Amino acid sequence: MKEIVIKDKRFNLYISPKQIRQRLDDLSHELNKAYHSKNPVLLIVLNGAFIFAADLIRALEVDPQTQFIRISSYEDEMQSSGKVRQVFGQDMPLTGRHVLIVEDIVDTGHTARYLRELLQEQHPASVAMVSLLFKPEAFEGGTPPEYVGFEIPPDFVVGYGLDYAQLGRELQGIYRLAEGG
Ligand code: IMP
Repeated sequence: MKEIVIKDKRFNLYISPKQIRQRLDDLSHELNKAYHSKNPVLLIVLNGAFIFAADLIRALEVDPQTQFIRISSYEDEMQSSGKVRQVFGQDMPLTGRHVLIVEDIVDTGHTARYLRELLQEQHPASVAMVSLLFKPEAFEGGTPPEYVGFEIPPDFVVGYGLDYAQLGRELQGIYRLAEGG
């Protein structure tokens, strides 16, 4: 089991780059079917989703347009505060558009709920979310992501865009906090 150290914590390889690639293949097939001739707007949630989104968008054949939004919810480095605030938003009109939110991870679901409420104000034709990771046991309600790469236990993970104290985003696999940290 490959172990790495980031700052003061130990992490073990949990999802390999190959597993991510394979799952992305399946997900993009599913999305290509669902969004065929729908010309969706991909709303990419910064910062964590940038690597997932970069790989996903190149596997999509649905003429997507892209927009970015930045939300912050973690005040602490490893725990969701539950408080969500928008840092900067997208400015594309979304009325009548099919919007696909691209997230790195859905944990408590507060960010997802906030985003969906924000988007409803613009009356899009549809809103759905694709999240690379989903922690069902940490999820506190609302609409779960319609498309999920991997369901994982409520442990802290880094890599493939996800960070620990802004470190580890460049890792090609996903690493899970080792027992005892
Ligand atoms: P939620 O609002 O609790 O669902 O949290 C969503 C945000 O928290 C994600 O977009 C991530 O930025 C961050 N987050 C949640 N779990 C993790 C994790 O295990 N590692 C890194 N960031 C995480």
